[in-house]
Amino acid sequence: MESNWSKYFSYKHNELSCENVPLSKIAEEIGTPFYVYSKKAILDKIKEYKEAFSDIDTLICYATKANPNLSILKVVKEEGLGADIVSGGELFKARKAGISPKKIVYAGVGKTDFELDYAVREEILAFNVESKEELTVLNEIAGKRKKKARIAIRVNPDVDPKTHPYISTGLKKSKFGIDIDEAIDAYKFAKSLENIEIVGIHCHIGSQIMDVSPYKEAIEKVLNLVEKLKKEGIELSHIDIGGGLGIRYRPEDTPPKPKDLADIIVPLVKNSGLKLVLEPGRSLIGEAGALVSKVLFTKNKKEKHFIIIDTGMNDLMRPSIYNAYHHIIAVKPKEKKVVADIVGPICETGDFLALDREIDDLKRGDLLAIMSAGAYGASMSSNYNVRPRACEVLVDNDTFKVIREREDYNYLIKPEEKALEGEV
Ligand code: LLP
Repeated sequence: MESNWSKYFSYKHNELSCENVPLSKIAEEIGTPFYVYSKKAILDKIKEYKEAFSDIDTLICYATKANPNLSILKVVKEEGLGADIVSGGELFKARKAGISPKKIVYAGVGKTDFELDYAVREEILAFNVESKEELTVLNEIAGKRKKKARIAIRVNPDVDPKTHPYISTGLKKSKFGIDIDEAIDAYKFAKSLENIEIVGIHCHIGSQIMDVSPYKEAIEKVLNLVEKLKKEGIELSHIDIGGGLGIRYRPEDTPPKPKDLADIIVPLVKNSGLKLVLEPGRSLIGEAGALVSKVLFTKNKKEKHFIIIDTGMNDLMRPSIYNAYHHIIAVKPKEKKVVADIVGPICETGDFLALDREIDDLKRGDLLAIMSAGAYGASMSSNYNVRPRACEVLVDNDTFKVIREREDYNYLIKPEEKALEGEV
C-alpha cells in the first residue's frame, strides 16, 4: 500500500484521489494535463492562519501572484481575506472576484502610471511604495484625481531568509524596497506630499522560508524604525510583514506552521499597538494543488531512463528555473520502481519535472501527480511551443468543477489574427 501524501491527496481503493474524487475520473472527463486544487485544503489553511493570529487585529491579504484564478480568489474573498497585488491585472482580477479595495495592498518596484492611476481610483488600502520617485509620481497622479493615496513604505530590513537566492527579497543588494537606514528620509518626504497619506510600513523578506527566526530579526528592525518615526511625528496604523512561509515539497520537509510564525510575531506587534497585515501566498495554496499528467512515452537510453509526459516547463516552470523539487507520485501505484528523468515535451534540455528520481515504473497512458503545485504553478505557466495551458479544477468533497478551461488553438492565435488581414 502506497503511503498517503496528505489529508487532501490520498489513496482510496489503491488510487490517488483529491478529497473524494479519484484523479483518474477527472482525467477521463477532461483529459490531461490539469491542475487540481482541494478546496478543503485552502479553507483549512485559512482557518489555521486566522486562529494563529486571533489575538491581534490582523488582515490577511492573499498574495494573488501565487494563484490568481478567479475561483480561488472567490474562495479567499468569501473567507474575508484581502489581496496583495503586484499589477493592474491582479487588481482587476481581485476586484472581479469581489475583494474590497479596502483590503487590497499593492507592492512592486515597477508600477506604471496607468496602474497607479487605476489603484488610486479604486482607493485601495495601501500602496506599498518602493522608491521616492514612485512617491512623487503617485502624489501627482492622486492629485489629478483629487484623491489621497494611502501608502506604506516597503523597507528592506537586510536579513537573510536562508532560501533560494532568486526568492530572497529583503537583502541590501536586492531591487526591492527602500533601505531601512534611508526610510526615515523617505517617510519625511512622503509627509511633505499633499496627496499622500501615510498609513503603514511594509517588508517582505523572501519566500519558501523554512525557519521563522529571520522574521523576528526583520520585525524587530522594522518596529525599531516605527519608534523612530513616532519621534519624528509620523504615526502609522499598520505593519505589513509580507508573506514567505514555506511549504512541504519533499515528503520529509517540516515547514513552519502559521502558529510558529504567530508565536514570534504576535507578542512583538501587540506591544506596538499596530494592526497587522500578512501576505501569505504559497502557504495558503501551494500544498492544496497538484499537476496531473499522463505518460506519453518511455525511453530507455544507455545512460538514463526517461519518462516523457504531456506536461512540461510551460505548465510548471519551477523545476527548470529554480531546480525546485516537486514530489511526483503515481495515480495508480506499481510494485516495480525505476530511476528516471521525468521530462516534458518542450524542446529544451531544461524541460524536466524531476531528474534521477525513484518512481513507479510508469508506462504509456499511466497518470502521475506532481505535488505541491498549487502556488506559482499555473500562475507562471506559458504558451511556449504554442502549447495550450493546462486547465484547472477545484475539488469540493466528491465533486469537481473546471475553474479554467483548457485553451484551444483559436484562443492562442486570437491576439495575432487581425494582423493577417493587412500586409506584413
Ligand atoms: N508579498 C510580496 C511583496 C511578495 O513579493 C511575495 C512573493 C509574497 C507576498 C508572497 O510570498 P509567499 O507567501 O508566496 O512566499 N516564483 C517563486 C516565488 C516568488 C515569490 C515572489 N514574491 C517560486 O515559484 O518559488
